[in-house]
Amino acid sequence: MEVYTEKDKLRKALNVFKLKKNSIGMVPTMGALHEGHLQLVIKALENNDKVVVSIFVNPTQFNNKEDLVKYPRTLEKDVALLKTVDKDAIIVYAPTVEDIYESNTIAEKFDFDGLEFEMEGAFRDGHFDGVGTIVKRFFEIVKPDDAYFGEKDFQQLQIIKKLVEKYKLPVKITGCKIHRESNGLAMSSRNTRLKPEYKDAAPFIYKTLKAAKIKFGTKSANKVTEWVENQFKNHDLLELEYFKIADIKTLKPITRKSSKKMYRAFVAVYADDIRLIDNIALN
Ligand code: PAF
Repeated sequence: MEVYTEKDKLRKALNVFKLKKNSIGMVPTMGALHEGHLQLVIKALENNDKVVVSIFVNPTQFNNKEDLVKYPRTLEKDVALLKTVDKDAIIVYAPTVEDIYESNTIAEKFDFDGLEFEMEGAFRDGHFDGVGTIVKRFFEIVKPDDAYFGEKDFQQLQIIKKLVEKYKLPVKITGCKIHRESNGLAMSSRNTRLKPEYKDAAPFIYKTLKAAKIKFGTKSANKVTEWVENQFKNHDLLELEYFKIADIKTLKPITRKSSKKMYRAFVAVYADDIRLIDNIALN
């Protein structure tokens, strides 16, 4: 498996495949790969001749320095895991910060028509400018035909679709279902940092989302939100940052239920100092 750390060498290698009319898929990641990432890679391989998996902990999307420092970095293990999927068709791009940002590690400013101000955007200042910056650069370097993102970061997925639309980038974006542990906890690279008692407690997040979905069938969004907030108030280990029911297109909080709109419930929770997010389709 080829592992590139420099964009120029990666571009050269990809040009050879492009000349042969090979299609290129891409799965952008920050590494510490888990089964959820592998499912994205498998999906990308079903539809493409070659798949570029980027592994890069992007500094400009972290609003919290400590989170950036503590983010797991496990390149060797990640490459070994990818080799179990496909040694030949997967190409790893694991750049240095300099290769991406040169001497200017700052994010561009984006207008995502307001999607960037909701939920994660409200709690993580500048986060989506960082995501937009890195994803746009990856697309400019790799020029993939297809790119795959998990629905766990549903807001990010909608923002990337908006980025592609606004900049007319020639790439098809595919969202893939959330991959969960058998106890329901959404797979995340951050889960590896959970202390045992928090790991045991964390499935409560999805359990509460599932119950909220059932309640949403008969109760108002306000009543469901109140119920969820109370569940977390009574929890010893998990601290709710937000719970929102939002329209999947605008990501704006629901005002009045409409059978013509699609809604999702979104949640962010602290388990000790680890921030976990999850979401569920409501209708
Ligand atoms: O979802 C992630 O892992 C990151 O936000 C992404 C899309 C790889 C950009 O750094």
